[in-house]
Amino acid sequence: MNVKVGVIGSGDVGKALARGFLMLGHEVKIGSRDPEKLADFVGSAGERASSGTFEEVAKFGDLVVLATLGGAAESAINMAGKSNFDGKVVIDATNPLDFSTGAPRLSVGFNDSLGEQVQRLLPKARVVKAFNTVGNAHFVKPDFPNGPPTMFIAGNDEESKRLVSQICEHFGWDVSDLGGIESSRYLEPMCMAWVAHGVHSKSWNHAFKLLKK
Ligand SMILES: NC(=O)c1ccc[n+]([C@@H]2O[C@H](COP(=O)([O-])OP(=O)(O)OC[C@H]3O[C@@H](n4cnc5c(N)ncnc54)[C@H](OP(=O)(O)O)[C@@H]3O)[C@@H](O)[C@H]2O)c1
Repeated sequence: MNVKVGVIGSGDVGKALARGFLMLGHEVKIGSRDPEKLADFVGSAGERASSGTFEEVAKFGDLVVLATLGGAAESAINMAGKSNFDGKVVIDATNPLDFSTGAPRLSVGFNDSLGEQVQRLLPKARVVKAFNTVGNAHFVKPDFPNGPPTMFIAGNDEESKRLVSQICEHFGWDVSDLGGIESSRYLEPMCMAWVAHGVHSKSWNHAFKLLKK
């Protein structure tokens, strides 16, 4: 299965996921408001990689990844053109982090989430929250002594979650489906737990694992 993947976001997350999709053999267009700044990345990523504006990326992707600063998600979606997401699976890797007082804190929670906001902005897309509960260095082929960690996902559409689960498994993860997109209310705070552990342990080599019996 060769998928055309559009990655909206030129930061570490966008690049790490782009590399992962390329590693799996897919075609990737990665986007920025200033696509020129991705020239080096694309140049070293092989012939199946290209760059473009957010709009070009959203049009290109059969599968679209949203990997922008959380506070810029709406603006990036508007730049990309909402209709360009219609009918598509959208992986939402964003976290609603507010850095205005220094240390990050969540800007939405309890009865709403950025995942739900993204789904409301894109009612004809099938949004799946994923990759937001771990640092980008571990997205692809996570290497931990106790085996694969758990990627928690949430979304309203079962078929889309099956596709995203397969992608996560190909990247080297176990997957736990937490239900509808409203479970982003629990996934986004998990990002803060991941960050807090990093700050207190002064190490960033950790990931969540759900133990079962
Ligand atoms: N860092 C991690 O390891 C990690 C892990 C999991 C989830 N996350 C989440 O993933 C997302 C991406 O994180 P990141 O560290 O890769 O990068 P980031 O610095 O949070 O975001 C970079 C992207 O946001 C876009 N952006 C910034 N301001 C914008 C605006 N006003 N309008 C439109 N777009 C704007 C940038 O566009 P330009 O390309 O035009 O500059 C760039 O593509 C964040 O929501 C983060 O919380 C991060």
